[in-house]
Amino acid sequence: MKINGKPMRTIWLCEDGWSVEIIDQTRLPHVLETVRLETVQHAAHAIKAMQVRGAPLIGATAAYGVCLALRKDASDEGLDRAINYLAAQRPTAINLRWALNEMQATVRNLPREVRVDAAYARARDISEEDVETCRQIGVHGKKLIEEIAAKKPAGTPVNVLTHCNAGWLATVDWGTATSPIYQAHDAGVALHVFVDETRPRNQGAALTAYELGGHGVPHTIIVDNAGGHLMQTGAVDICIVGTDRTTATGDVANKIGTYLKALAARDNNVPFYVALPHSTIDWTLDDGFAIPIEDRGEDEVLAMQGRMADGSVVTVDIAAPGSPASNPAFDVTPARLVTGFITERGCCPATPEGLLSLYPERGPT
Ligand code: MRU
Repeated sequence: MKINGKPMRTIWLCEDGWSVEIIDQTRLPHVLETVRLETVQHAAHAIKAMQVRGAPLIGATAAYGVCLALRKDASDEGLDRAINYLAAQRPTAINLRWALNEMQATVRNLPREVRVDAAYARARDISEEDVETCRQIGVHGKKLIEEIAAKKPAGTPVNVLTHCNAGWLATVDWGTATSPIYQAHDAGVALHVFVDETRPRNQGAALTAYELGGHGVPHTIIVDNAGGHLMQTGAVDICIVGTDRTTATGDVANKIGTYLKALAARDNNVPFYVALPHSTIDWTLDDGFAIPIEDRGEDEVLAMQGRMADGSVVTVDIAAPGSPASNPAFDVTPARLVTGFITERGCCPATPEGLLSLYPERGPT
């Protein structure tokens, strides 16, 4: 997608053919800055510190992290060390483990001297596949938005509510939840997006609003607590969110607060869709409450980052001094609250049968 009219991705291989560049998302929306990753430690830090974040982008970064590690040590031990190290950086998004498994499978049985080239080829493919997968999610999700638009008075915008950032900044390009939005907007469908600010890190206010604005999509930032009221008053036509891990039974782990939006949507008959690529499905789990929930510590709750009038970016304390805080970063929305999934293969109900209808190769043989 574009920033200031210039097409960009969130991660790319540098001209030297081996180092990797990312947009540093901890600096957005105030400063657009890129960072070069030259070692596996750089890649791990980028994931842990959330310079890159969002399930698919974490996976793509980890894949390149393996390449950087293998340049230094292409032995079996070096590969295992890199994979375990990268996997430990964030626990909830399954795309991290998925991408590392892909890298392991690509490299493991190859002679040492060809491992680095093979790893870079697979990492590049993971990135390119993510772009195409997200584009396809948009193709299928756009139809849902068009169906709603067809039932509204001509020219009245379709109001979409989204949570966190499941946009192109969370993937390599297009986004998951935002891909249908971009594609409907580009096709001339009138739409407007309510963007949950998404405390504590404000991925909605800082990232989703930034990218929607960059693409010219009309949007309004709302505080996290406003969604229920807006749904009660008929202001929301559809919710579309992303996911960090979805079980084979359709339970969805996503950014903390997603569950509350799903409850409000159910109470008000607002369709609640989850957009996801195949790499976010954990086929080994059938209970969402078995998904590990990242605890990010209290600092993010007790302080906030913002821009001063002079342009400097500062962090300020916002809480009563001495009060402790709790910061679970994700919650689980049970499948029964999800109207449906939007995947690269089409839409389906949030049920085991629904998922298997799109991914029959995952069913019993
Ligand atoms: O903690 P984050 O910013 O990595 O959380 C991101 C989300 O929860 C996204 O909604 C999810 O990863 C889907 S991204 C396409």
